[in-house]
Amino acid sequence: MNRNNLVLVSGVKPTGRPHIGNYFGAMSQFVELQNEYKSFIFIADLHALTSLQNPKELNENIIDVALDYLAVGIDPKVTCIYKQSDVPQVAELAWVFNCITTVPYLMRAHAFKDAEAKNKEINIGVFDYPMLMAADILIQDADIVPVGADQKQHLEITRDTAEKFNRIFGETFTVPKERILEKVETIPGTDGQKMSKSRDNVIGLFASDNEIKEAVMKIPTDSKEVDEPKDPETCKVFALHKLFTEGPEFEDLLHRYESGGIGYKESKEILIKNISNFIAPLREKRERLAQDKDIVIKILKDGGEVARKRAEEKMEKVRQAVGVSL
Ligand code: ADP
Ligand code: TRP
Repeated sequence: MNRNNLVLVSGVKPTGRPHIGNYFGAMSQFVELQNEYKSFIFIADLHALTSLQNPKELNENIIDVALDYLAVGIDPKVTCIYKQSDVPQVAELAWVFNCITTVPYLMRAHAFKDAEAKNKEINIGVFDYPMLMAADILIQDADIVPVGADQKQHLEITRDTAEKFNRIFGETFTVPKERILEKVETIPGTDGQKMSKSRDNVIGLFASDNEIKEAVMKIPTDSKEVDEPKDPETCKVFALHKLFTEGPEFEDLLHRYESGGIGYKESKEILIKNISNFIAPLREKRERLAQDKDIVIKILKDGGEVARKRAEEKMEKVRQAVGVSL
């Protein structure tokens, strides 16, 4: 279905390298949806500043994330891809939102409470994070916001903020919905637990063949012999086959798991081959794109201009609504 008149907005923080869990859980849906919705995907560099205060690293991360998304198939001709800081109107709008939001309300945010529980020195940016995020979304009149389940509360805050503004100053903002892929299975990492950057158990989305091999070989299995039947539902190697092995090869594998006749070593070898075949073209595309960073910078700059123009039009309506525009 073409919902091209509906607007999709999502942001990605430029911290850390993506893994196959991120791809199947989140990144791939931006690519799938880009022809259905008018899409705006941005690199949340101002949000990253709340935790990353190293200019060189932030600079490199911005380009890295742009390369990641271009390599997996975000098409800059279809999707407006930009960096948040190229739309300074979001900071202006966040200030307006600050003025209609109470401190106790923001103190209920999970991210703030988590930081507080860890006894961290919390900067105002962390506390105010949800207001900047609301501004990112509302300034582009988003209808849907694809995010991970951990962002659900941020979307609730965004909706509350839109409704509160509309109540005080008159109908101005579209009230957006989140889009959460609840059914996407949690992809296991090389220790059998949820694959996560913080657990050091990832298979990088742009991993080399050697890295893939090493990672897959680490996945724990039980000690069943080749001839014994094996349970595909509990086997962590099989969980990855579901993503990477297809057609008759998958059917054959399933059959041999259930009736015996395949060892974990062979199962892993098939998996390594299939993950490598999946990653190789992505890795090559990323390497090609990385050779000309100027093109990437130009894509972000052009996207920034489009996003900024829309944001400025919206912001002018906000200025009029609140009474600062003469
Ligand atoms: P990480 O846990 O590695 O730090 P993030 O929290 O940055 O990953 O998640 C970014 C996106 O990737 C989220 O939308 C999240 O739902 C998705 N994601 C992360 N890990 C997995 C996984 N193991 N399986 C499925 N989706 C995942
Ligand atoms: N908070 C999001 C995250 O941590 C990133 C983000 C910032 C975002 N602004 C956004 C996501 C707007 C969606 C829409 O992943």
